[in-house]
Amino acid sequence: MRTVDLRSDTVTRPSAGMRAAMADAEVGDDVYGEDPTTNLLQERVAALFGHEAALFTPTGSMANQIALQLLVPPANEILVDADAHVVTYEIGAAAAYGGISSRTWPAKGGAIDPQRVAAMVRPDGYWAVPTRAIAVEQTHNLAGGTVAPLATLDALRAVADGAGVALHCDGARIWHAHVADGVPLDSYGALFDTLAVCLSKGLGAPVGSLLVGSAERIAQARWLRKRLGGGMRQVGVLAAAGLYALEHHIGRLAEDHARAARLAEALAPYGVVVGEPRTNVVLLDLHDAPGFAAAARERGVLVSVLGPRTGRLITHLDIDDVAVEQALDVLTSLLERRAA
Ligand SMILES: Cc1ncc(COP(=O)(O)O)c(C=O)c1O
Repeated sequence: MRTVDLRSDTVTRPSAGMRAAMADAEVGDDVYGEDPTTNLLQERVAALFGHEAALFTPTGSMANQIALQLLVPPANEILVDADAHVVTYEIGAAAAYGGISSRTWPAKGGAIDPQRVAAMVRPDGYWAVPTRAIAVEQTHNLAGGTVAPLATLDALRAVADGAGVALHCDGARIWHAHVADGVPLDSYGALFDTLAVCLSKGLGAPVGSLLVGSAERIAQARWLRKRLGGGMRQVGVLAAAGLYALEHHIGRLAEDHARAARLAEALAPYGVVVGEPRTNVVLLDLHDAPGFAAAARERGVLVSVLGPRTGRLITHLDIDDVAVEQALDVLTSLLERRAA
């Protein structure tokens, strides 16, 4: 029986079509700006979000950290929620590489209270750490793939404008928000000074993210990327995977959302599902998450452990309906055994 890997949407393997596109890619030296496939990908993603320019980076973490360094000078601060990827899983990079101070608002299931954020902003001055930017995550991973409504983001933009600070979006899974809420990508783009978007989560590319912003900021970002060791050469083979992903894998995210809903619906009677999934993430509140994940693994189903009680399932390109039902057989029988 095949293994059903629901740990993350980063575990997908490039499809035959994607591999063919990679093999056929025209390439050049991208440090010289001469890789035609990478240039095309950058132009295409910038246009999707209605911005002037975009920069290909190896990872979402690098795209986020370049954005933070663009927006926040050393010894100044960024405001962000306590569960955001930029302060949870980027290994202290904002402080280590950017000298950036981070201040967090309490994570409330991904919900953003613009007035609360407004009250946190510290003005310029020599007596305190000045706030220079606010960052949000769309969709919010640790909150369970939640989608920040456009109206809330609008209100947050007004807060940022009122305070004279920048707004960054960690849009690793912004595609999922776009599909779930039907908000055009350029409507999101219009709200943010910079966006980091990933091709390797949900869209199925093996590698790659883009930082999106103004031409001036992206020129500066290119320099920061090189300083971080992220200047790449014949990277068109990877950009080709990204172009393929944009063309073939955005619309189908609705299938991932439906499969997450199916998982949640079938597991809900056991009282373990946290909230109602809006996109491709199902959070589980388990008595013993590591024990549950170990038992599921023995039976061929891989579940993420986020904490002593918290498990996570993520649907993706390599999970079809059969895999969902196979996973449910295993997970429900474990939950039944626990209840007995
Ligand atoms: C919300 C979010 N932002 C950023 C990243 C970073 O992406 P990468 O692993 O490519 O650095 C991830 C990775 O899973 C993520 O979930």
